[in-house]
Amino acid sequence: MNEDQVAYWNGEAGTKWAAHQDILDLTLEPLGLAAVAAAAPAAGEKVLDIGCGCGATTLELGRLVGPGGAVLGADISSPMVALAQQRSGAAGNITVLEADAAAHGFAPGHYDLAFSRFGVMFFEDPTLAFSNIRKALKPSGRLGFVCWRGVKENIWVTSGLEVALRHVPRPEPTDPLAPGPFAFADPARVDGILGAAGFTRIKATPFDADLMLGGKGGPESAAEFTLEIGPVGRLLADAGAETKQRVREELVARYREMTNDQGHVLAKAAVWIVTAQAAA
Ligand SMILES: C[S@@+](CC[C@H](N)C(=O)[O-])C[C@H]1O[C@@H](n2cnc3c(N)ncnc32)[C@H](O)[C@@H]1O
Repeated sequence: MNEDQVAYWNGEAGTKWAAHQDILDLTLEPLGLAAVAAAAPAAGEKVLDIGCGCGATTLELGRLVGPGGAVLGADISSPMVALAQQRSGAAGNITVLEADAAAHGFAPGHYDLAFSRFGVMFFEDPTLAFSNIRKALKPSGRLGFVCWRGVKENIWVTSGLEVALRHVPRPEPTDPLAPGPFAFADPARVDGILGAAGFTRIKATPFDADLMLGGKGGPESAAEFTLEIGPVGRLLADAGAETKQRVREELVARYREMTNDQGHVLAKAAVWIVTAQAAA
């Protein structure tokens, strides 16, 4: 199951996410922390971190549940899992597994909370995947995750796309519901999927934050980040070195207009913070 995503996250995407883990964590931190706050992990709880990637939220959840609790991170990307295992090795209450969350046989009825920072929009069959996750939850166990709203609301994407599309053809429109970062942009769709998977009290709350694009490295770092990762990186994957260089220069100029007093590039991100409960 999810073979395309397994191939994608074990290819260049996984290697790049692992290589840029520090910058990505700084950039995504405000969104992950908002989702963690909504999911409200408590001391002593058992938590699943779905699509845990390089482990940033796994570590945070481990800290919050404390020595009496436990966190299991699950991800399909071998390079990202390896880094998450390395980062969490000393924690004592964290295990990270290379596993497809849609199919893995998690201990049934075991977890208080299933959490995810941007790791649940990639399932081929989301209802099946969330049903599998629900089976791992205790009766009335909680679900909490953060996912992107529409592309147009996410200036961190559109600012780079506008520049890139001056140099490469606009791609054919793809199925907006296909697995990918924006597959959960429509909260009615998320509500339907979670309801069908056996969740109740489903709530999607909009949340906006200024992301520090490229970490603290300023416009050059933000341009490099955009060329490598995310929707613009995907769009430019097959572009030649000359095209990439021209895009890089124009991105740096665009990002200079978006810097704050500290020289950090700030770009608006728009997400849904989703919470739900396993139906009894
Ligand atoms: C956008 S990344 C987010 C990673 C991490 N949660 C973070 O915020 O840094 C999406 C992650 O979901 C993982 N993923 C995608 N499909 C998955 C599946 N079926 N089971 C487990 N992990 C999956 C990918 O390997 C990737 O690590």
